[in-house]
Amino acid sequence: MAGRPAAGGNLTAMEIREVAVIGLGTMGAGIVEVFARAGLAVVAIDVDPGALERGMATLDRSLGKAVARGKLTEQEKAAVLARVRPADRLGAAAAAGLVVEGVPERMEIKRQVFAELDQACRPEAILATNTSSLSVTAIAAATRRPGRVAGLHFFNPAQVMRLVEVITTVRTAPATSQVLTELVRRLGKTPVQVADRAGFVANALLLPYLNHAVRLLETGYATREDIDAAATAGIGLPMGPLALLDLIGLDTSLSVLEVLSGEFGGPRFAAAPMLRRLVEAGLTGRKAGRGFYDYETKERARRPDSDTVLNDDRVAVPGPVTLVGAAAGPGMRLAEMIEAAGWPVAADPHGSGLVIVLAKEPGTDVLDAALATGRPADAVGLHLAGDQLIELIVTPMSAPGAVEAAAALAGSLGHTVVRCKDRPGFLAGALLCPHLNDAVRMVQDGHASAADIDAAMTLGCGYPRGPLQLLDQAGLGYVLTVLTQMYRRYGDPAFAPAPLLAEHAAAGLAFR
Ligand code: 3HC
Repeated sequence: MAGRPAAGGNLTAMEIREVAVIGLGTMGAGIVEVFARAGLAVVAIDVDPGALERGMATLDRSLGKAVARGKLTEQEKAAVLARVRPADRLGAAAAAGLVVEGVPERMEIKRQVFAELDQACRPEAILATNTSSLSVTAIAAATRRPGRVAGLHFFNPAQVMRLVEVITTVRTAPATSQVLTELVRRLGKTPVQVADRAGFVANALLLPYLNHAVRLLETGYATREDIDAAATAGIGLPMGPLALLDLIGLDTSLSVLEVLSGEFGGPRFAAAPMLRRLVEAGLTGRKAGRGFYDYETKERARRPDSDTVLNDDRVAVPGPVTLVGAAAGPGMRLAEMIEAAGWPVAADPHGSGLVIVLAKEPGTDVLDAALATGRPADAVGLHLAGDQLIELIVTPMSAPGAVEAAAALAGSLGHTVVRCKDRPGFLAGALLCPHLNDAVRMVQDGHASAADIDAAMTLGCGYPRGPLQLLDQAGLGYVLTVLTQMYRRYGDPAFAPAPLLAEHAAAGLAFR
């Protein structure tokens, strides 16, 4: 039960002892768990009895896993479950001091739910929405208490991710955002105050990047495993973008993109046709058993430490390998690795056998170097991206035998290997650079500060470093050059470098 201020007065965070969660889908069930594990009484509400049952089963399973990992005792699990009261009508939220809504991402449904909650709940109760991108302002307008309405945006899995975006509208009372901020801290999470703009901070940045990965897949740029491995092994992200789309839900992702596209326009937000088709087919990701990967057959996104191309020593590399290209930097390191692995290296580039072009940052030099050898069919590029990833670059002239031979060679070097085309940024750079450009654009447009963007992506999406820190680390000049080349090559304004990026690069300034 909540405490008892005068009717219509403000509750403090400590006076909120009962929370109602509306909608027990993936996020709703996780949010119930977060509150109940923090010691609050929770009314878990779903008007669909089937969904309510599935949500409670998800909660039970998740707590069972925590017991199995030694994070909870059986008694603690029972105590958490005892704090959760399932209900199938909104009226059960009547005594709650806070309501968190997590129903499907459709404005008319949300507004209907908020209008009903406004009638059913105590006047001092705060009504919060866990919407991924819809206007909190428009949802609040369905109530007579817009001062007590805000966004409380959790990240999937809600039990694990530390960020909660607290979204305030022009009508939200300062006391409401203060109470929510304190409450989020009580949950052991980090609140970040965010303005009510489509996608808030994290989703506005994350979704165009995920969408771009789908485009790379549907255009045959690289396979799904290679795209995901480039993100994990090459960039150091906890999950590849396609596996992450499966986790978030392809339907949710599509609806966020549609809202972003409606609010901001532009090609980065236009949903990739493949994403739309998968949603139409009901293949919405993990919750449906299949999305980009098939979870029913236990197929999983491969881990970065597994081989992603042929790691097949049955494919012999014919004769000595001719190395051409970079005599310094990562190319040099790669040459040393090849020699250290015992591959015989030929001195004469005009001889026979496999030609490895040691590709240079920021890419697109492999075909030129291959042509210069006079036998481009024998030539394949290799590029060392960071400490764990080798990109195997196939030109339009590379013969299949040469590609397989290069794959065998690369697979012997102890790194994750991915294949891609001879295009700007190869694979990891082609994924990362537009993402970093989007982050700069957010700073440039006053959407969020560099520090807030980095906090959102590290705490909400498990990035090892925030995008602006990644940008400083990768080098502004490198990112600017990849983007400029991408923009020239594809003619797509999505890749046009942000003016602020060009200015910082010219001035030699870092973002963090
Ligand atoms: N429920 C509860 N706990 C879970 C879980 C789940 N679904 N998945 C993982 N965990 C826990 C594990 O139990 C483990 O806990 P422990 O360390 O206390 O034992 C911990 O998380 C790490 O799990 P694993 O070792 O099994 O797996 P990983 O190390 O591969 O981590 C991950 C899994 C935490 C999901 C990690 O891959 C990650 O951070 N991925 C990025 C997720 C992300 O970006 N989320 C945000 C998406 S955007 C969003 O949700 C907004 C929405 O509006 C669209």
